[in-house]
Amino acid sequence: TERSLVLIKPDAVARGHIGEIVSRIERKGLSVAAMEMRTATETVAAAHYAEHEGKPFYAGLLEFITARPMVALVVEGPRAIAAFRQMAGGTDPVEKAVPGSIRGDLGLETGENLVHGSDSPESAAREIAIWFPHLV
Ligand code: GTP
Ligand code: MG
Repeated sequence: TERSLVLIKPDAVARGHIGEIVSRIERKGLSVAAMEMRTATETVAAAHYAEHEGKPFYAGLLEFITARPMVALVVEGPRAIAAFRQMAGGTDPVEKAVPGSIRGDLGLETGENLVHGSDSPESAAREIAIWFPHLV
C-alpha cells in the first residue's frame, strides 16, 4: 500500500466540490487516512511548493493557495500516488486533463485546477510531513 498527499484547493472548496472529489477518491477504492480543512499558512504553502520558487507563477500560486480554506488529505491504497494523479488529470484542465478526470471535468484554468496530488513516493513523504507532521 502507498500514501499520497492530496489537496482540495481553495477554488474547489469555494465551488462546493469537496464532496465530489472525496467521493471520486472513495469510488476509486482509495481510502482517506487523514483529512483536515484549514487555511494554509505562508510557511506551509512555501514549503509545499518549494520546487516552484522563482517561477513566474510562484507568487500567484502562493497567494491563491493561502487566501481561502482548503482541505488536505492523506489518501491510501495500492499505487495511490499514480492512481490519484490519473484521477486528477494534467496540470492544464483544458489542454492536458482528459474528460473523466477531476480537472478535465471541473476545471478551466491552470492556476485554479482544483486538486494537488503527490508526484512520487519521495514527494508524498515530504508533503505528508509538511501537512500532517503528527502522522510521520
Ligand atoms: P500540483 O498537483 O498542484 O503540484 O500540480 P501539478 O503537479 O499538476 O503541476 P506542477 O507541480 O507543475 O505545478 C504546481 C501548480 O502550479 C499547478 O497545479 C498549477 O496550479 C500551478 N502552475 C503550474 N504551471 C503553471 C503555469 O504555467 N501557470 C500558472 N498560472 N500556474 C501554473
Ligand atoms: Mg506538482
